[in-house]
Amino acid sequence: MLLAASISLSLNTDAFSLLSEDSFSVFPQGIASGDPTENSIVLWTRVNPDVHRKLKKKLKLYVSDSLEFSGNVKTFDISSEMISSVNDYTVRFKLRRLIPGKTYYYRFEYGGVRSIPGRFKTFPKNTDSISIAVVTCQHYADGYYTAYRHISKKDIQFVVHLGDQIYEVSKFAKIPERKIKFPSGEYIAMDIEDYRYLYRTYLSDKDYQVARALHPFIYLWDDHEFANDYAFDYRKGYWNLPNHPYNKNRNRVLELRKAAIKVWYEYSPVDMHLNLSDKNPLRWIKVYRSFNVGNFMQLICTDERSYRNIQPCKKIFLSKGCEEQLKTNMLGNTQKLWFFKKLKNSTFLWNVWANEVLFSKLKVFDLYYKLDTWDGYIKEREEILDFLKKNRIFNTVIISGDLHAAVVSNVKYRFKKDEETICPEFMTPALSSINLSERKWWKRFSKSVELFESLQKFQNPWIEYINHRIWGYSILHLTNETARFTIFSVNKYRKDSPERKEAEFVYHRLKREINRLL
Ligand SMILES: [Fe+2]
Repeated sequence: MLLAASISLSLNTDAFSLLSEDSFSVFPQGIASGDPTENSIVLWTRVNPDVHRKLKKKLKLYVSDSLEFSGNVKTFDISSEMISSVNDYTVRFKLRRLIPGKTYYYRFEYGGVRSIPGRFKTFPKNTDSISIAVVTCQHYADGYYTAYRHISKKDIQFVVHLGDQIYEVSKFAKIPERKIKFPSGEYIAMDIEDYRYLYRTYLSDKDYQVARALHPFIYLWDDHEFANDYAFDYRKGYWNLPNHPYNKNRNRVLELRKAAIKVWYEYSPVDMHLNLSDKNPLRWIKVYRSFNVGNFMQLICTDERSYRNIQPCKKIFLSKGCEEQLKTNMLGNTQKLWFFKKLKNSTFLWNVWANEVLFSKLKVFDLYYKLDTWDGYIKEREEILDFLKKNRIFNTVIISGDLHAAVVSNVKYRFKKDEETICPEFMTPALSSINLSERKWWKRFSKSVELFESLQKFQNPWIEYINHRIWGYSILHLTNETARFTIFSVNKYRKDSPERKEAEFVYHRLKREINRLL
């Protein structure tokens, strides 16, 4: 069996030149790295079960500081028993004792067949700049992952995935050849095999595979990794799943949650542990965590889904609002205390808060746009803003996703026009999921999506930019004094779409203002 000839990992690489048929047949979901630190990282792959059942070999892992894997190469053996149906033949390996600020290359080998080579950089001990790619919302059936091909070529430290890595519901397909056909025969994930099928299918995409090989990922999740708009019913002790066939069936819901968590963990290169035997389902996994890059930046990743209580006012979209918005909690007490501690004890130049859903207030014709965002959890939002203001924490940047729109917003104390900015919020567009321009309901408000955007901006003056017509990704670039956010649009309907720099904003930390560059 042959390796792909002349593998190049230069930043100008063509994604597909890295892939060979052999590596694809043995490692059908590719390789990945994730949750990097100064001296550790999690490496990941999946071995084709048919190949493993036949050969029963051990898996080898090579790590080197050169792309040629010559000279200084470390070899690790992963026993054949570690590759099994228990984890759907996925394998994770935590590398430790690495050197800070260094580029490493790695690859797996099974039965004489090598995976494509992967690459990651450990965090530097000190730095005065960093670039991060931000992605969210990647429905496989609704678009190609061309954006990932562009991300692969970028010089970045890591990719933050804000969630909706998979979608548990799939009835239609904007791209017919990518239509989802669940093993259960349903339109929605019903059990562990359905979730596994989703990850296997999403990760069969070669653009996604190459991006995961060339950059470390830091994964969060949103609702669709489990069920649409889910929330925890504290009175009943399990999750509420609106419009789900299992809703209100305690055992089914808890079983489904276990399956969703287990499979997310199996397929994501995250550095955490599962406690699925804990009596309290809220303790089965802890996704919120933080990452430190020298004294320069702290990335605080929060989980806006698992601990929130049920969305208020009964209606999620275009709601008048109600008193309940003042009684809801998004983070849950334990996470909130942890979050405040991270902010208060921060000695970093920047806090980047990876927050899954829109933080800023957003109304249209006096109706809340979506109460599944922080608009449904107003009191807790005010508590966070009080905390930032009282403690004079003005070096935070919020990155967010979920809305299938690009948004740049001046986060104000109480979202009043003339108040000072507490921090900027930068939201990245969906990578491939359906955006507002592919829907119709906005027509009752305006003649075009562009006009609808203008109305939203006018009626929410803290919003500098809102775009419902694009798909793509964003790059956050931090220097000592500025946070630059560049939104790249990539047409999801074409496999060869070029990327376009759609808009660019810069936040000045000391002046606390956002300026548009493009
Ligand atoms: Fe989404």
